[in-house]
Amino acid sequence: MLGRQFNRTLNRTWGFIEDRAGIPKWALRPQPDFTFKPSYWTGAFVANAFLYQVVSGLLLLLYYQPSYTFCGQAAGQLSSSPAAWCSTYYIINSVPMGSLLLSTHLYGAYAMIFLALIHFYRGYYLGVYKKPREFSWMVGTLLMLFTLGMGFTGYLLPYTQLSYNATQVGLVLALRLPTVGPLLGPFILADGTGQGLLSRMFAAHVLLIPLALGALLYAHIALFESHGIAPPASSDPLQRRRFTAQEEKNHVPFWPHIFFYMTKWALLYIGLLIGIAALWPWQLPTYVGNLAAVQQVTEPDWYFLWEFKFVDFAGVTPVLAVGLTNVILVFVLLLPFLDRSPRTHPRDRPVFLFLGNSLLGFFLIMTVWGGLTPGIQILPAEVALRLVPIFLVNAVVVGLFYWRYTRSYRARLRARERSLRLPGVYGAGTTESAGPLPPSAPAVRAQGRGET
Ligand code: HEM
Repeated sequence: MLGRQFNRTLNRTWGFIEDRAGIPKWALRPQPDFTFKPSYWTGAFVANAFLYQVVSGLLLLLYYQPSYTFCGQAAGQLSSSPAAWCSTYYIINSVPMGSLLLSTHLYGAYAMIFLALIHFYRGYYLGVYKKPREFSWMVGTLLMLFTLGMGFTGYLLPYTQLSYNATQVGLVLALRLPTVGPLLGPFILADGTGQGLLSRMFAAHVLLIPLALGALLYAHIALFESHGIAPPASSDPLQRRRFTAQEEKNHVPFWPHIFFYMTKWALLYIGLLIGIAALWPWQLPTYVGNLAAVQQVTEPDWYFLWEFKFVDFAGVTPVLAVGLTNVILVFVLLLPFLDRSPRTHPRDRPVFLFLGNSLLGFFLIMTVWGGLTPGIQILPAEVALRLVPIFLVNAVVVGLFYWRYTRSYRARLRARERSLRLPGVYGAGTTESAGPLPPSAPAVRAQGRGET
């Protein structure tokens, strides 16, 4: 009795808040009920990670000093460390929960980049970039670029010798770019002093890039809202552009269903982040200019290791390394216009399956290689020995799968034709069916037109 009364009061209060705040009006569009799976919301996980970075970053901003001048006293001893480093030291050692805050911000950046890569690869393999989502894909590519920019600019802020050296290597790569490099130079390096660089990196990290990310994210979500969620990947070139009538009927409202579904994952994410940061808090490396420190190998964060390793290859100049990176970038940006096949399932796109696998394999092996042997030069023979097998095995596996798939697909089609007494769609004397076709007819028709 008391419970029912309590529920009724809760419902009435909830209804009042929803109505007066007009929440259902500003909620996003309803979604099909089968999208209650994490794989459909990988982008939302990235957005949630970004939100955590903004909140934790604002809290860190209360204590951090983007200054190159000496702070004097750190850890109870006279120190010649720059204020940027010793304010970080202060956050870790003196601010209540400061170590947890800083560690979750750092690991949160790793998680955001990792989740963005998952979101990217899911979209790549499932062909979500196809009509009408070409712009969503292109805005997403820019989001990825700016996310990496956040990582790059944030790395320098603690002003450790390690981050300073890695930033210098990154800058050499960026500034060697033909035409763009000299233009970027004065903007990044400011007056050429350490303070100038630190101030520019700080401004980019806490203001310019987050603003750009926020604006791009707004456009990305507006495009998502306008086109709706991409239906599952399919071999049928026509059917899956839209949801089926049954799927349309089974849509669930964004508010409160999907919103709370996301909230559950967001809380789990934050819990995991805090747990990992509590178990393995980040250790601050030594500061820039500490002459007593042991010489360290220059190493970036994991997401740039592949690029650093690439520069270690004998004969690879910074211009070549940056040039190849740009080729990959342009390929990703223009992918919706390069892959013109109307089918979205990866098994129907062997060339792009091969390219995607190759890119993933290249990225993984270079990252591991970069982590194991940072700064060690690699001779061409060893490069060929490690990288060529990836591409060869990939080509053979994708080729074999595609061959098997087309064989069994054609066999199934023939069997269906026989059972439905449809005219043949393969082989000599192929004609297009004139009679009514079963539900998967568009695929059969397309095959008849030779669009495989
Ligand atoms: C900071 C990085 C990014 C954020 C925060 C983000 C956020 C989102 C969100 C919230 C969605 C709605 C559906 C979902 O949750 O999956 C989405 C969809 C989408 N994103 Fe991203 N995204 C990012 C990066 C990217 C990248 C790198 C790409 C590809 C290059 C991309 C391409 C797309 C596409 C094509 C869709 C529509 C997918 C569909 O309808 O299922 N996004 N993104």
